Amino acid sequence: MPAAPPELHLLAPHAAATRAFGERLGIAAAAGDVIALIGPLGAGKTEFARGVARGLGVVGLVSSPTFILIAEHEGRLPLFHVDCYRLAGAEDAVGAGLLDERRAEGVTVVEWAERLGTALPAGRLEIRLDGSGDDPRTLACRATDARHARLLEALA
Ligand SMILES: Nc1ncnc2c1ncn2[C@@H]1O[C@H](COP(=O)(O)OP(=O)(O)O)[C@@H](O)[C@H]1O
Ligand SMILES: [Mg+2]
Repeated sequence: MPAAPPELHLLAPHAAATRAFGERLGIAAAAGDVIALIGPLGAGKTEFARGVARGLGVVGLVSSPTFILIAEHEGRLPLFHVDCYRLAGAEDAVGAGLLDERRAEGVTVVEWAERLGTALPAGRLEIRLDGSGDDPRTLACRATDARHARLLEALA
């Protein structure tokens, strides 16, 4: 079997397309998967996370957990939705507490993942979103290990 491509570039012309990419990941995701979302304010990280939630069968509203750092949603697997926007300076300590051993039971989506520093799990699917306003978004997706390369295939 040929090796999965290590990187994938996607174009999302509108918010629903960004959510649809997330939904594909949510459908394919397994317990322990980590999806790291990187990109400026308004790039579509929360829209993407909403799609993952839908793919996992989460019912109800998924909003940005900015003020509470982490929100847990019940789905086919638990969704741990983390937002590191407010982390400043205490990344390692706070991040280590945010992503504890329960992470293995569910799917973790991290907004502002770069702010987790060394607490960001080494095995992950990294998605860099770019674009603003009503412009299309580009999604640069990269898997850091074989288990997350599987998710790239679901997106391709
Ligand atoms: N192609 C697109 N993908 C994602 N969001 C888009 C797109 N086009 C417009 N938008 C809008 O941009 C905003 C993205 O907000 P949000 O997902 O909260 O960003 P972030 O979490 O990265 O700060 C939403 O209001 C959304 O409707
Ligand atoms: Mg957000």
